[in-house]
This record gives sequence, C-alpha cells and structure tokens, in this order.
Amino acid sequence: MSARLTSPILRRGLLALATSLALAPMAFAQSPIVIKFSHVVAVDTPKGKAAEFFAKRAAELTKGRVKVEVYPNSQLYKDKEEMEALQLGSVQMLAPSLSKFAPLGVKEFEVFDLPFIFDDYTALHKVTQGPVGQGLLKKLESRGITGLAFWDNGFKVMSANKPLKSVADYKGLKMRIQSSKVLDAEMRALGALPQVLAFSETYQALQTGVVDGTENPPSNLYTQKMHEVQTNVSVTNHGYLGYAVVVNKKFWDGLPADIRTALNKAMVESTKVANDVAFQDNKDALDKVKASGKTAIYTPSMAERFLLKKALVPVHKQMASRIGDETLQAIYKETNFDPSKL
Ligand code: LMR
Repeated sequence: MSARLTSPILRRGLLALATSLALAPMAFAQSPIVIKFSHVVAVDTPKGKAAEFFAKRAAELTKGRVKVEVYPNSQLYKDKEEMEALQLGSVQMLAPSLSKFAPLGVKEFEVFDLPFIFDDYTALHKVTQGPVGQGLLKKLESRGITGLAFWDNGFKVMSANKPLKSVADYKGLKMRIQSSKVLDAEMRALGALPQVLAFSETYQALQTGVVDGTENPPSNLYTQKMHEVQTNVSVTNHGYLGYAVVVNKKFWDGLPADIRTALNKAMVESTKVANDVAFQDNKDALDKVKASGKTAIYTPSMAERFLLKKALVPVHKQMASRIGDETLQAIYKETNFDPSKL
C-alpha cells in the first residue's frame, strides 16, 4: 500500500484530484450566467453599439456574474427566426424594431409605424419613456416576453434609383418594407408595391432589382451599404424606426433579484447611450452617404413634405381598428397630434 502511494503516478493523480475538489466550488461559483443577445444590424450602428455597451456594463455591475454575448448582423438568426428563438429560449435577449412585434399578435406596436405620427424626438420620447410606452411593453408578457426598454434608431429616409420628390414618383416602385401591415398601407398609399423582406436580404434584393427601393434611418442605409445600390435618397423623415429591448420572461423571472436590479441599471444607462448615439449616427451617416458621391441626397421642400404628409396621414384612420383606437388616442394625446389638422 505504502509502496503504491509512493508511486509518482498515483501521487500526481491524488494531487490533481485534491486540487480539483478544492477548486470545484469556486469554479461553480464563477461560471457566469450567459445572456445571448442577438440582433440583425451591423456592430457600428446605434443598436450594435448600445448592445456592446450593455454587455460591458452588465459584466461590471454584476461583477462578472453575467456574461452578455452579442451576436450582430443576423449572425445567429434573421428577423422572424430571432423572435421564435427568444420565445423558445435559444437566445435570451433581442432588440427587434417595433415593426416586428405584430406577427406575435401584439398589433398595437404598429402604431409606431404610422407615418408622421411623431413630429420630433420630444414627442416620441413622451411615448417611449412614459406610461403609454410602459403599457405597450406590458402587452408582451402574454407572449412569454418581458420588455425592458425602448431604444431609438431614428426617422426614416426613402431611397430608390430615381429622384423621389413628389408623391407621384413612388408610383409602381417595388419597395422593401419590414413585416408591418401599417408599412404595407403606407407604401400602397403612395402607389408603391410593398414587399416584406428580412433586413439581411435587403441589400441583395436592391442590388439585383428584386425591389427598387426601401425606407430606413440613414444609419441602417449606410452601414448596410444600401447607398451603393441606390442612386437617390430623399430625406423625408416620414416615419420612425426604433426598438424594444426584450428578454425571455421565464429566464428573466428566474434570475436572482440582485442580478435583475443590476441588469436594469445597466439597461437604463444603455438606453441613454443608444439614444445619444442614434441621434448623432444618423446625422453622420447622411454626411457619409453624401461624401461617398454614390447617391444624390434630396431634402423635400416644405410644400413637397406637406403633400407627402397629406397622402400618408389617411393611413392612421385606415389602420386604427387594427392597432386599437385606445392605443392610437393615447399616443395622439401624448404628442398633441390632431389628424384633422393638416
Ligand atoms: C429593418 O428590418 O429594416 C430594421 O428593423 C433593421 C433594424 O433592426 O434596425
């Protein structure tokens, strides 16, 4: 026995076992909670940058007990699949655009797609940072999703391979839209032919002529290089594109309370970063598109924008029953929007 114990192989084995037993509780305590955060845009976008910031602050505020892994650029999932993955728990966190929630049955979210509903960021933030926004996030609970925050992207521009000045210029154009019935109605009101495509398929569809044009905030247009396959951009600011940051409810409810508190704090900070970055990046992106020399940028005159508004505001009434009149009226009240006054 003692001869065997003195065997160097056995001694090494026992030593390794003792070390691993001693370290086991530590290793267990140290293995972090992993949050997979999937999104469809580039890293260098408002959402991409805010997601990275959240990952950093989540690690700091939880002292390494949470590790957020960010998967950008539809690397893991495209638009529709990522929603399914969240509900199944294959990823824990997403920030889909608000236009992408109606297919879950939460049609109220399409209110954000209504053309000209927000005059500016002040009007918008009254909704996204106030009780109406909170009420909308609550509606996700029945779908197994907890809404944590709204993050801005920005106001949208239109693009195509021809100048888009008057309403008549949109007639017959095949326009890529997100999966929203309000956006469908918006394009039809202009005489265009809307086509729903995943974000990750948009560049190629524009390049190959599957669609003629699209709408997006400048930051998305530029970071997806859409301007390289679109000769004309019109700065219409006719609608808004923003995000709801959401988590799988079961996962979220199962987290220790102190972790949830720390993550909520990280989220509040990240929302500020997201909104500040979005404001700046959209301005910079337009400048960069201009500097590329590949695309002509047109800013409609007040009269042209008024005619565009006149053509598009009837979409509110048309979509009111789908969105829910209660939600629509609540937003009108917050933003002082009066559709009868044009
Ligand atoms: C789009 O599909 O155009 C956008 O929702 C992409 C995004 O997430 O900003």
